Amino acid sequence: MTKKKLASQSAVIMTEMVLPNDTNTLNNLMGGKLMHWMDVVAAIAAQKHSNRIVVTASADSISFKHPIALGNVVTLKSQVTRAFNSSMEVFIEVWAEDIPANKKILTHRAFFTFVAVDQNGRPIEVPEVEPKTEEEVELYEGALRRRQLRLVLAKRMDPKDAVELKSIFNMDNPKES
Ligand SMILES: CC(C)(COP(=O)(O)OP(=O)(O)OC[C@H]1O[C@@H](n2cnc3c(N)ncnc32)[C@H](O)[C@@H]1OP(=O)(O)O)[C@@H](O)C(=O)NCCC(=O)NCCS
Repeated sequence: MTKKKLASQSAVIMTEMVLPNDTNTLNNLMGGKLMHWMDVVAAIAAQKHSNRIVVTASADSISFKHPIALGNVVTLKSQVTRAFNSSMEVFIEVWAEDIPANKKILTHRAFFTFVAVDQNGRPIEVPEVEPKTEEEVELYEGALRRRQLRLVLAKRMDPKDAVELKSIFNMDNPKES
């Protein structure tokens, strides 16, 4: 297996238009439809990194601050930030564009985790990620803390073992500032 792959090799850009069938009664994009697009764009990035079948293991909290209107063009960008054993963290950014008004805003940033599996659905090892740009390095370094947080919340990791996570809260030295 290839030992390492560049983070940028997994990059995906997907463009959609908000059509009447995608909207709620206020003519804004349904949250579930957006999450579907996010799942698809992130799954493609995870597949590109691993060259495997992938399944969604988790989606970190997504909040809906900016409504996306009927007729807007939605651009979703995804890229694997870091791979562990069989799992990969994928970073997703969503942009909504009103082309006639010449307005484009970043509406969402989210992290999804995918697991590469074999034909029987069993987790299988994936290549490591090699970050190059400053942003890729920052995302790579933060990925370990985010992994520990989601595994603790999923009751898959004992909080005592979440060393990187504890260090940001300074939990081992509570009296120090
Ligand atoms: C995800 C799945 C393959 C994990 O299988 P498992 O038997 O629990 O396997 P393991 O305990 O060996 O975990 C495998 C990897 O998944 C990761 N993982 C499992 N649950 C996770 C979660 N909630 N969040 C983040 N990562 C998770 C583990 O950390 C591990 O990562 P690593 O190999 O990089 O260390 C399995 O739970 C599954 O198939 N889930 C259904 C996936 C699916 O259908 N998704 C679509 C939703 S409808």
